[in-house]
Amino acid sequence: MSNIPSDFSGDRRRFLQYFVGGGLATVPLGWLRWPSRSWGPSQPTAALDLDNFCLEYRYNSRCEGYLPGTEALDEAGNPYQVDAVLAVAESGDRLSAQGLDDKAYLVIESGPEIAPYGISAVCTHLGCTVNWNPETQSFACPCHGSRFDALGAVVEGPAPRALELITVVVRDNRIGLLEQTPDLDPRG
Ligand code: FES
Repeated sequence: MSNIPSDFSGDRRRFLQYFVGGGLATVPLGWLRWPSRSWGPSQPTAALDLDNFCLEYRYNSRCEGYLPGTEALDEAGNPYQVDAVLAVAESGDRLSAQGLDDKAYLVIESGPEIAPYGISAVCTHLGCTVNWNPETQSFACPCHGSRFDALGAVVEGPAPRALELITVVVRDNRIGLLEQTPDLDPRG
């Protein structure tokens, strides 16, 4: 026979039921909550969300000093400095930019200004890299002869469609590149 008073034994049983039950209920709640915040697969999503957030709300304090996307590099692999670019660039120029998986071109508009979109250098035929020709103001593919106008529209095949556009962000004297369709489509 137990020497614990029966009312205490009952309290202890209720406490244990409450404690164990509460603990079991807490585990699945934890599973629901924490993986999305701290485990591996969530990291790219968090980065992407901040990219999109800072594209839209560039003056939010969370975006201070934050450059969405990948920083654009010149052909020597150095980050582009906006003031240096605009000191020599002219409207109509196309500047080779590295940083994404594939090369792209920055577009210089009147001002001069860096356009909020850029042009992918990946040919839409079989993926060769197109080159900008400032004399003809067009892109040419060295593999099978496709040509594209200054905005990347097809002038001559076999390329089946225009060069892809990317999003370009200018912030704090730096340039960010994103593999996203820009808000503004210069080809209408
Ligand atoms: Fe460019 Fe074929 S890959 S024309």
